[in-house]
Amino acid sequence: MMNQRPPLILGNWKMNTLPEEGRLLARQLVPTVMDGLHRPVEWGLAVPMTHLALLATETKGKALLGAQDCSVHPHGAYTGEVSAAMLAASGCDFALVGHSERRQYHGETSLQAGQKILRLQEQGLMAVYCVGESLEQRQSGNYASVIQNQLQEGLMLEGLSLGVSELVLAYEPVWAIGTGLTASPEQANEVHALIRHWLLQNRGSNAAEQVRILYGGSVNASNAGDLLSGEHVDGALVGGASLQIRAFADIVLSVR
Ligand code: 13P
Repeated sequence: MMNQRPPLILGNWKMNTLPEEGRLLARQLVPTVMDGLHRPVEWGLAVPMTHLALLATETKGKALLGAQDCSVHPHGAYTGEVSAAMLAASGCDFALVGHSERRQYHGETSLQAGQKILRLQEQGLMAVYCVGESLEQRQSGNYASVIQNQLQEGLMLEGLSLGVSELVLAYEPVWAIGTGLTASPEQANEVHALIRHWLLQNRGSNAAEQVRILYGGSVNASNAGDLLSGEHVDGALVGGASLQIRAFADIVLSVR
């Protein structure tokens, strides 16, 4: 059967740009992408929390706006945290959870990522759950079980939705993030197929057909076409290149 999943390209600005710089970047990026599109492609930007309200006006109706994290708690005495309800009220459409930089530098676990997915879905936001193995795990040949464990723990909670606009998975091999080392299209497609197989076995055929799986890790304008050609690759999660107008526009436009 033909793949019915709409392609999705997301940029992750990480902790870059001041709010006004971000607004100017979005103001140029949005029309550059829109002008080149011959058919609608779903795309969006995950930006720092301080940028959300400013960027909501720039992206509304044109691109999805996202945060890079959210709290596991709905509200309360959690200094420094931002709730899913706050994100929704700031114009967000989605948020990343379980990004490897949050796992590595902030000790985020797959179990916490699962709670965040639930919080986001309660607010009608799409959750983008990131999984991926380290270089050591890749080299030891252990990567399949690492990713299966991340899926098992992150997607175990009752009540979690697996519809096309509710959950997106992102495969981001840690060794390919910000390193210029990209997984080959075959390596990416192999893991995406493995993730889809896991969904089929553990969450049924609807989930396996609907959930989009993005590839992330040193995606740029030159390699995007090849990476996106994999049968199970439904889009990309782009870091560094999403801060460059021409490069990011070309990545969105490389969707066939
Ligand atoms: P780079 O594209 O800079 O490697 O970052 C990937 C990433 O972490 C996106 O979330």
